[in-house]
Amino acid sequence: MGMGVDHASFRAAMARFPGAVTIITACQGEERRGITATAVCSVSADPPSLLVCVNRKTGTCAAIRETRAFNVNLLPDPASPLAMRFAGADGVTGEDKFAKGSWTEDSRGLPLLGEALIGFSCEVSEMIEAGSHTVFIGEIVDIRLSDGAPLVYEQSRFHRLAPL
Ligand SMILES: Cc1cc2nc3c(=O)[nH]c(=O)nc-3n(C[C@H](O)[C@H](O)[C@H](O)COP(=O)(O)O)c2cc1C
Repeated sequence: MGMGVDHASFRAAMARFPGAVTIITACQGEERRGITATAVCSVSADPPSLLVCVNRKTGTCAAIRETRAFNVNLLPDPASPLAMRFAGADGVTGEDKFAKGSWTEDSRGLPLLGEALIGFSCEVSEMIEAGSHTVFIGEIVDIRLSDGAPLVYEQSRFHRLAPL
């Protein structure tokens, strides 16, 4: 890493950076794929688009590359066990992750979480290789909204929002 910034410093600093917790989903053939992700960011309103950063080692990355489609599910604050599961914490991978949560599908057949506060359906418009990750820019083709408070991650812990 350049300018004397090592992995530990990067990780320690990024751990302080609070993130809204999502599950990014995709399909590879008949099988569903999903990961917990905080690297999700608004890109532009015209066209409506967002970006996600996905580790190339994950099946989710391969699935998005192949199909050029993904969903972003924003988690409500009671969903931290599901966030841990989709981060691979239970040693569960691939299709088996979907045994918990109320999963449905969008018109394209991609997984949507019933409990999600927001469900974004995206079509990939650009892919950028960046270190260990692929940055997918997704044009948003559908949005579903529900009421509730989002789950937040900071300093290796889950939090709920409290008004000031
Ligand atoms: C709070 C949290 C946020 C994460 N954010 C991302 C992310 O933005 N991008 C990513 O590629 N992985 C992220 N991960 C790691 C992936 O969830 C993890 O590598 C993946 O689920 C492993 O899946 P597998 O065991 O099925 O390979 C995050 C993990 C946690 C706990």
